[in-house]
Amino acid sequence: MFDPDVLGLFPDSSGIEDGQLSIGGVPARALAAEHGTPLVAYCEQTLRARAREIREAVPEALVVYASKAFPNIAILRLFAEEGLGADVASLGELAFARAAGIGSERVFVHGNAKSDEELRAAAEAGATVVLDAEDETERAASVGVARVLVRVTLGVEADTHEAIQTGHHGSKFGLPPAAAFRAVERARSLGLDVAGVHVHVGSQLADTAAHDETVELLASFATLCRDELGWEPAVVNVGGGFAVRHVPEEPEVRLGTVTRLAADGVLRAWRANDLREPQLVLEPGRALVGQAGVTLYRIRSVKRLDDVTWVAVDGGMSDNPRPGLYGARYTALSAARADEPASETVSVAGLHCESGDVLIDDVLLPSPRPGDLLAIPVTGAYTLAMSSNYNATARPAAVLVAGGDARVIRRRETIDDLLAFESYSNRSETPM
Ligand code: LLP
Repeated sequence: MFDPDVLGLFPDSSGIEDGQLSIGGVPARALAAEHGTPLVAYCEQTLRARAREIREAVPEALVVYASKAFPNIAILRLFAEEGLGADVASLGELAFARAAGIGSERVFVHGNAKSDEELRAAAEAGATVVLDAEDETERAASVGVARVLVRVTLGVEADTHEAIQTGHHGSKFGLPPAAAFRAVERARSLGLDVAGVHVHVGSQLADTAAHDETVELLASFATLCRDELGWEPAVVNVGGGFAVRHVPEEPEVRLGTVTRLAADGVLRAWRANDLREPQLVLEPGRALVGQAGVTLYRIRSVKRLDDVTWVAVDGGMSDNPRPGLYGARYTALSAARADEPASETVSVAGLHCESGDVLIDDVLLPSPRPGDLLAIPVTGAYTLAMSSNYNATARPAAVLVAGGDARVIRRRETIDDLLAFESYSNRSETPM
């Protein structure tokens, strides 16, 4: 029998009937039969619910979706319908946001190494550029960028995996206060509209301790700017970083609660320094799409060794590199046999040619068999977004499910797609 705590990790519209997992009213088995595996199924109800949860908790804030968590035009459109904007961090993500019709006043362009082409595209789109380096200021002004924020790095070490801390001393992102101060001065002298400041402390943060510490330091920075330059930030973008729970053992993080706390932290710090109340911007990625996504895999082989039982599936680190990169933990459900006793502890391996390609170290399942469907919840963020073609595997498809229907929002790659990137005529065949 499935663990109800595990079912609780699945999207809001999930259910189990006669041992069959369904999402958005579509049985997992039907999704796999029609669209193949691996497949990432996104639940529309959950996507909308998370967007509304933040908007209701912090109605005064502009919420922008950090599209790096899963850059997808259908999902960006859906969030636009919910009143969200987009954080983009590349020319590609900017193109996606524009294709989704996100209003330019809601697009923020990030990156610690923006190209002139990117800055020009941001200027043409009328988006706000988040300045990340002093030498970016002239380049932004010269290509016609109008509105900027300055990203400040305040030396706060967030309680998360080292690879996803961003606000610590020595971070490659943003500018420490003295350099940020100079960037504000320089940008203003070049005629840019310096609308405000930006911070992003880190990702997968279970509480607001790092946010709170950061915004207090940010308020001191803003006070210094006011006193020395006569300039105050009208916009305060506090980034994203709100955690999601991947396994029952991780703490539950209520998105409405943490976003409200983060917003209150800004208000408190601003009031304490007599600063003018700013337009607040929140920039969550993972918290909007993480729980909405479920990956379906087909079990290819089961290998029972003395110390471990390996269940090998038809995907792996090419569609979810997070266990390898961050030690991320996941759990799984036997999607078509969920009512059978979970009797065997197994490890779930990917198909790739390295021992580190393990999706789950330990999970309890009904005795697995080749051909079974496995569903891994909370795989909506930074999975397909970080997927690769390792071993020349084609990337999976993504579907959006709601009301008993599934629609493809990103098609599966084919081997022909991969072959099309190659140039493989022999030299002798090359025309002279
Ligand atoms: N804003 C900025 C400027 C960011 O750099 C990020 C994430 C976000 C917002 C959204 O953070 P979120 O709400 O999603 O935590 N690949 C890693 C996560 C990298 C996050 C990068 N920046 C992972 O799979 O855990």
